[in-house]
Amino acid sequence: YFKVSLLQCNYTFKVQFEMWDSDEPVPRVELLKKVKGCDGILCVLTEKIDAQLLEAAGPNLKVVSTMSVGFDHLSLDELKKRGIRVGYTPDVLTDCVAELTVALLLATSRRLIEATHEAKTGGWGTWRTLWLCGHELANSTVGILGLGRIGVAIAERLKPFKVKKFIYTDVAPRPELANMIEAEYVSFDELAKQSDFLAVCCALTPETHGICNWNLFSKMKKNAIFINTSRGGVVNQEDLYEALSTGLIAGAGLDVTTPEPLPTHHPLFTLKNCVILPHIASASYTTRNAMSALAANNLLAGLRGEPMPKELKL
Ligand code: DGY
Repeated sequence: YFKVSLLQCNYTFKVQFEMWDSDEPVPRVELLKKVKGCDGILCVLTEKIDAQLLEAAGPNLKVVSTMSVGFDHLSLDELKKRGIRVGYTPDVLTDCVAELTVALLLATSRRLIEATHEAKTGGWGTWRTLWLCGHELANSTVGILGLGRIGVAIAERLKPFKVKKFIYTDVAPRPELANMIEAEYVSFDELAKQSDFLAVCCALTPETHGICNWNLFSKMKKNAIFINTSRGGVVNQEDLYEALSTGLIAGAGLDVTTPEPLPTHHPLFTLKNCVILPHIASASYTTRNAMSALAANNLLAGLRGEPMPKELKL
């Protein structure tokens, strides 16, 4: 995080900042101490920006800029109440997240992690007819839960794999986006029933918390592959474990979990049909650079009282 204070020198706009110079998250106690009196905060998704932190920062705080597109770590009500502006980083990570989602989908559906493990550990015997068979995208129906920029970018990348049909659900139809990928709006239940591949792309909100639960999995096809690159909180992991371990669905690829990191003894790690990544969807050099530049520019614009390049309207 950056703690920023303003110094007004003649007409020059200068900031004084203090940086947590480590890849490890700043300890909460340290953060609560350091934010006192600052005008702006630049944070990442490991920092909870809640009432306690805002109280600790005090009345000078004008801007919170998060280097993420997700904002479930920010208490928006508390920020709004205090008139604090919020910047975030949509768009610059769309391609990178969509690319990783496709990679995770293929790794899961074509069982790549299992396959490399078998090859390395002596499981590779003679060629066998049904050994390591998976599910292919050609002629499939791909469902998107929460259609936004990322969902569209995923569909654009999957189309050349000869997907037959794209379907989506959301709080309401989104024709401008859906038209770009010729996706059909369906109910939540139809999404569950029809999807051969289901990609979760919705934001984590009180409404979407735990939305991928037994009710969803029990309606899905036996051959279905479930992919989540949004937030772990949208999935009921106990229900997902049941669905995967009993063969109710064929596989799951998760880039996000609850908690993060997921403890290594977690039951999901015991399943061959569950591929788990450590929240790396936006992890390319180009994208992380773009995210950090955008987060810094949001912060500075907010401090100057100017329109931010990407402001979250509260
Ligand atoms: C975000 O920006 O919210 C992503 O989850 C980070 O990869």
